[in-house]
Amino acid sequence: MKDTYILAFESSCDETSVSIIRNGYDEVATVVLSQMDIHALYGGVVPEIASRYHVESITLVIEECLKKANMTMEEIDAIAVTYGPGLIGSLLVGVQAAKTLAYIYDKPLVPVHHIAGHIYANNLVKQMKFPLIALVVSGGHTEIVLMKEDYSFEKIGGTLDDAVGEAYDKVARVMDLPYPGGPLIDKLAFEGEDTYPLPIPLDDDSYNFSFSGIKSAVINLVHNEEQRGNTINRANLAASFQNRVTDILIKKTMRAMREYNVYNLIVAGGVSANKGLRAKLEKICLENNYDLVVPEIKYCTDNAAMIGAAGYYAYKLGRRADLDLNAKAVDELK
Ligand code: KG4
Ligand code: ZN
Repeated sequence: MKDTYILAFESSCDETSVSIIRNGYDEVATVVLSQMDIHALYGGVVPEIASRYHVESITLVIEECLKKANMTMEEIDAIAVTYGPGLIGSLLVGVQAAKTLAYIYDKPLVPVHHIAGHIYANNLVKQMKFPLIALVVSGGHTEIVLMKEDYSFEKIGGTLDDAVGEAYDKVARVMDLPYPGGPLIDKLAFEGEDTYPLPIPLDDDSYNFSFSGIKSAVINLVHNEEQRGNTINRANLAASFQNRVTDILIKKTMRAMREYNVYNLIVAGGVSANKGLRAKLEKICLENNYDLVVPEIKYCTDNAAMIGAAGYYAYKLGRRADLDLNAKAVDELK
């Protein structure tokens, strides 16, 4: 069978990334240019700055990726791009670049939902087997998704307020940790003990999540202790927060596995890099004979390799966009 090469674009937030993926699983070359250090100065991503840097970087990143792959545009079968959700100004840069190349080189254009990309980061580790449950945990999303076959996404639950990564980052901020705080809380959690009586987030019969309560509990606790002149044990607070959050994510995911009689579990999104979550999932999946796949750490956060993996399946299924494709800041996974 002839190989299929997808040239993929990702620019939904603060990473400018281009990748070439062969047959949906084989990474030929990926370039990721992160703006994290720039946004860290402001304590979070500044949309206007992000889009300006994407504009400055995109052509260089495309050239670098083709050079790294030792390929020409003529050898590319299709172009995949994250059209949403994300920061509109950032998304537009990737979408415009993808459309321009699709037009010049007369290539099919394949629109990819950002979370479909995060899910397919797992296909770069091991071919995804269906049915599966995807636990989606990112800076903007927290969802449990049932997939019965390639590119079919049934959301069975999601967050009612903050996404889990967002809660991590907000808690980190009140603990005076720099942006992005998620990885730092994860690191601190391993140096401390679960001593703070934080509430369990939305422990009910649904598959929904709510992290605003625990986030506010941490903020109130820190402020109250500050007012009393007490110092917070940051490592213990991180451990308590991380335990409460990962326990509820795992509890609901395991219930979904049982209810839908599924034995394959994948994790997607930036928070899939969380060591506490990974360790607990590995243990519980081993006990239950579940096949767990987690993305490589470098593909947990935003990158175009995952968009190329998802884009391959979308392409095979005939999904196409015209040159009037527009970026969407908000869109359901489909
Ligand atoms: O997937 P992503 O790039 O965001 C969206 O697409 O929405 O993930 C970024 C999020 C940030 O909130 C970051 O703090 C979090 O992932 N994150 C982590 C870890 N690594 C990244 N959160 C907890 N533990 C980590 N190790
Ligand atoms: Zn992302």
